[in-house]
Amino acid sequence: MDDVVFRSPRRRGRLAVFLSGRGSNFMAIREAVGRGGIDAEIALVFSNKADAPGLLRARESGLETLFLDPKAFASREDYDRAIIEEVEKRRIDLVCLAGYMRVLTPALCDALKHRIVNIHPALLPSFPGLHVQQKAIDWGVRFSGCTVHFVAAEVDMGPIILQAVVPVLQDDTEETLAARILVEEHKIYPEAVRLYFEGRIEVRGRRVFILGPGG
Ligand code: GRF
Repeated sequence: MDDVVFRSPRRRGRLAVFLSGRGSNFMAIREAVGRGGIDAEIALVFSNKADAPGLLRARESGLETLFLDPKAFASREDYDRAIIEEVEKRRIDLVCLAGYMRVLTPALCDALKHRIVNIHPALLPSFPGLHVQQKAIDWGVRFSGCTVHFVAAEVDMGPIILQAVVPVLQDDTEETLAARILVEEHKIYPEAVRLYFEGRIEVRGRRVFILGPGG
């Protein structure tokens, strides 16, 4: 058995959500936080897009939001350095990427190791990258789904925390499959965050073990 390399903290957490678009996963997490299903507060909603609908919704609901314009920075490294500062300044325990459409620099991945997770609309390690619902249809796979995983420098390849399976139907289009996968995303993302702050996520090697409620 591989050594334990990480065990998530059992405490009331401070969350940040990073998004670039509509923010439905952010809303699912916010809803779970709101009804006490996750022992955390959303301390920051961050975007690289000033007009991301998710950012506007966060602002409307009174959460702290932050937009940093990538064009105002000389390099991706500088941009991500600024992000790290903002995250550390707010003592964020966990960053949830939720449709955040920028590749992270290795420095950011390292600085937030085991403190940053992502949701991907396919069963990783199959179909990393973009337009993965269409790729699943084109490959004729019978099942796709979604994956919550830790973020590592290699895109979409960090240790897998939770997955949900969705059948691919013969008459599926990219849109219909994406919509059915999204329903599952909204279940497993809040669930993964809940487990994280219950201290129940343990990483051994590249595998994640979900511990029982007693730890
Ligand atoms: C989701 O499909 C998620 O899996 C992917 O980006 C999309 C974000 O959707 N990473 P939303 O902004 O959360 O609605």
